[in-house]
Amino acid sequence: MNSAASAVPVRLTDLPVPAPHAGDVDAVLIPAEQLQERITSLAAQISADYAGRDTVIVALLSGTVMFLADLLRRLEFPLRLDFMGVSSYGGGTESGQLVYTKELKLGIRGRHVLVVDDILDTGKTLRSVTAKLAELGPASLKTCVLLDKPERRTGRFDADYVGFRIPNLFVVGYGLDYDERYRNLPFVGVLKPHVYTEPA
Ligand code: PRP
Repeated sequence: MNSAASAVPVRLTDLPVPAPHAGDVDAVLIPAEQLQERITSLAAQISADYAGRDTVIVALLSGTVMFLADLLRRLEFPLRLDFMGVSSYGGGTESGQLVYTKELKLGIRGRHVLVVDDILDTGKTLRSVTAKLAELGPASLKTCVLLDKPERRTGRFDADYVGFRIPNLFVVGYGLDYDERYRNLPFVGVLKPHVYTEPA
């Protein structure tokens, strides 16, 4: 079974939302301990698959920061790390137009590339990034996401490694933002609708 097929399906918990966030966050979707457990097993799978390969991890800014840091320290093989900046502007809850804000620094021709992102939503970002990287001639090209929201997909795209399969909820925390806020939450939570429906 590949790792995407073993993605952990999650449902809302009834765990209390930590006090500092309770005004804006409705519920905890994935608590910190569950994130760490799943990342440990994803990292073991990736380490087994990539051992002995000349590998470049390409992380997408900015939402991947927390996931990347926890994943990377558990990857047990020599690798190179690079970043691409890609954002969808157009704001709100929908993914708008894609803008590249940072290009790769490393060459990837002939190397095994694993793209790491926080969430696979409509699929627009990873479709664009993988098409762009494929043109550079990598030996292989795969993707790894912490969260997959399959109900939102607007075209075909599946990630090769998936942490959790989540329902169509507005999630924030553990790197994921709304309007650049909430990235520092140590858990993945569901945002209260008033935050994104009422003007600040
Ligand atoms: C978010 C997220 C993914 C992308 C997923 O990025 O980090 O890269 O959207 O959505 P999609 O599958 O519909 O393309 P965003 O543009 O919000 O930038 P950020 O990572 O800086 O938050």
